[in-house]
Amino acid sequence: MTPGRDLPFAQRVIDWQRRHGRHDLPWQRTQDPYRLWVSEIMLQQTQVTAVIPYFTRFMASFPEVGALAAAHEDDVLAHWSGLGYYARARNLHRAAQVLVEQHGGRFPRSAAALAELPGVGRSTAAAIAAFAFGERAAILDGNVKRVLARWLGVGGWPGDGKVQSGLWEAAERLLPDQDIEAYTQGLMDLGSQVCARTSPRCEACPVASDCVALREGLTDRLPAARPAKALPQRETVLLVLARGGEVMLEKRPPTGIWGGLWSFPELALDDDPQRVSEQRYGAAIAPIEALEPIEHGFTHFRLRLQPWLAPVTALTPQANAPGRLWLPVSDAIGAAVPAPIRKLLRSLEGFDRKP
Ligand code: ADE
Repeated sequence: MTPGRDLPFAQRVIDWQRRHGRHDLPWQRTQDPYRLWVSEIMLQQTQVTAVIPYFTRFMASFPEVGALAAAHEDDVLAHWSGLGYYARARNLHRAAQVLVEQHGGRFPRSAAALAELPGVGRSTAAAIAAFAFGERAAILDGNVKRVLARWLGVGGWPGDGKVQSGLWEAAERLLPDQDIEAYTQGLMDLGSQVCARTSPRCEACPVASDCVALREGLTDRLPAARPAKALPQRETVLLVLARGGEVMLEKRPPTGIWGGLWSFPELALDDDPQRVSEQRYGAAIAPIEALEPIEHGFTHFRLRLQPWLAPVTALTPQANAPGRLWLPVSDAIGAAVPAPIRKLLRSLEGFDRKP
């Protein structure tokens, strides 16, 4: 059996943190909630190496919560310049004032109360409470979501409400009875140093032996990516001029979608099919009939094609202008037509409405 396999998840994370985790970061080796709070806010969406110089300068200028509360916002923002996500700095400043005005300059000692401060979410509150007060509270930042989604084999995008609440439950369930500080830091270190988003170092991972994603070969698919945004939908009308088993195809312009392929004439949504048929194509038509719409996905949009079947009653020579072809449906299927048009042509096969 793999060494450590019989130990609980949390114990393996703790042992690993003690041996291989980070111990010398400027906000470690302290239980000062102010330093821990500032560091955790800076570390949101920002890498440790980028944060260190900012943290050092910030602490030199605002060494305790009273100094931060009394500072001008511009001065606080100037210390943030280059870190990005400036709402974090404004919230930090406001929270310092709340702490001074409502808490006598002291930090509340529970994760639940810390989470009431501006800019302090559930995970950040838990991290501060664990490091400063030893509270047995669960964290779930982006890195930890990745570790847990992989180890437990949780599918779905972790930003999704249901997936997220399942991960929170797991995070709570896995908490150790003691050594919450090493465990919390261990999860963070594991997430950033071993269970990386790309090319995780599973050979160095203390929980690899029973990691579901590793066992099933899913490390590059878990956690699942945010689902793609719904693509914009466009709509267009196709004019299917039909006469004696033949349909009219038109060569599309060389650029744009389906450039240079043959297709049915495309109408604007508010074009009058009767008029366009006569004026543009020299075809008198009987009343038109709506055919089943076709949905087609392109990379950047979805296209809904509404074909109108227009039985032709009379033609002028204009109907045979260059770039236009009258073909039996079966021949049209074999021509250089786009796939959705071929599908539409197949549905017309056997159609032989004679005027
Ligand atoms: N990311 C968020 N909090 C962290 C911490 N305390 N140490 C290292 N990385 C972190």
